[in-house]
Amino acid sequence: MKIIQKNIKNLNTFGIDLEVKEFISLTDESDFSKLSELNKQILLLGGGSNILFTEAPKECVVHIETKGKSIVKQDDSFVYIEVASGENWHEFVLWCIDQNYGGLENLSLIPGNVGTAPIQNIGAYGVEVKDCIISVSGYGLETGKPFKLKNKECDFGYRNSIFKNELKGKTIISSVVFKLTKKAHQINTSYGVIKAKLSSSTPSIRDVSNAVITIRKEKLPDPNIIGNAGSFFKNPIIPNSLFRVLKERHPELPSYPSDDGVKIPAGWLIDKCGLKGYELGGASVHKKQALVLINKSGKATGNDILSLAKYVQKTVRDNYEIELEMEVNIYPQSFR
Ligand code: EPU
Repeated sequence: MKIIQKNIKNLNTFGIDLEVKEFISLTDESDFSKLSELNKQILLLGGGSNILFTEAPKECVVHIETKGKSIVKQDDSFVYIEVASGENWHEFVLWCIDQNYGGLENLSLIPGNVGTAPIQNIGAYGVEVKDCIISVSGYGLETGKPFKLKNKECDFGYRNSIFKNELKGKTIISSVVFKLTKKAHQINTSYGVIKAKLSSSTPSIRDVSNAVITIRKEKLPDPNIIGNAGSFFKNPIIPNSLFRVLKERHPELPSYPSDDGVKIPAGWLIDKCGLKGYELGGASVHKKQALVLINKSGKATGNDILSLAKYVQKTVRDNYEIELEMEVNIYPQSFR
């Protein structure tokens, strides 16, 4: 493992221009267990699609670049595939569709890597990655000891998992095992926007993937062109009592049922506050989807984007008494 100095502008999807003093490309599975021997403070970087740097990291940045997919088991109906952490998420989804393996098609075009997908339990259009995960493997960062957690042990929730809680900062994920369908695919078109894009009433997994890709391209900016990290905030879950009060004040307030209350689309709240297209420094609220904050000028600093995020939070709080929680990890705040 060679330690080098590196600019990581191309390794974070906000495109924040930063120089890192100590950087390691982790390309070999055998290096995972050796990280503990470095005796360094480490910051793990996967696809860089869920992190906002407000300053250059002081830690040694480890960029996970391991590749590989292997079928661990299969029968007539299902295939179990172990995938290395450094594989690009969308390329993996497209590969599954080429093989006619179903389950992940609704998660097409999500930026990031396979190894980071379980951390925030990525989700879109009625599917969460946990629905297809069998187990997650990795190593203790301090101990170098391998671990394997079964789906149930990962404590998956809405944009949440054990890796954001008890195991935060303690582990490095090396691979994920997925269970996918080989036939009788469970096509999920529960989201009206998907149905509207499909011409066939019996769509294939490729049709669904193509519909998702089209919808995402219409609403969400391509991080290769405009820096962003997808949804900046989680959709808040509010108590039923507050929902009743707000619904009386704003009868058009959209909502989805949730186990612990009512889920409200944060994009709608931000939009209704008149913040679409609002700019601060080089940062802006995306015009087509208010839940996304963008590096509009391409030269925004992490603090420009963070200041905008705080302004959005304050405006939504003042107007709706709802506290928006950031989905994106802020460096260094989220890592302390
Ligand atoms: N809305 C507005 N204005 C906006 C944005 C949204 O009024 O500017 C309204 C929409 O009209 C709709 C509702 O809010 O009634 C929900 O919008 P949308 O379907 O776009 O989904 P979302 O709740 O904003 C979530 C995920 C996305 C995922 C989509 C589709 C979160 C935090 N975000 O967004 O995930 O793609 O659903 O399933 O749960 C991501 O995490 O990066 C991400 C893009």
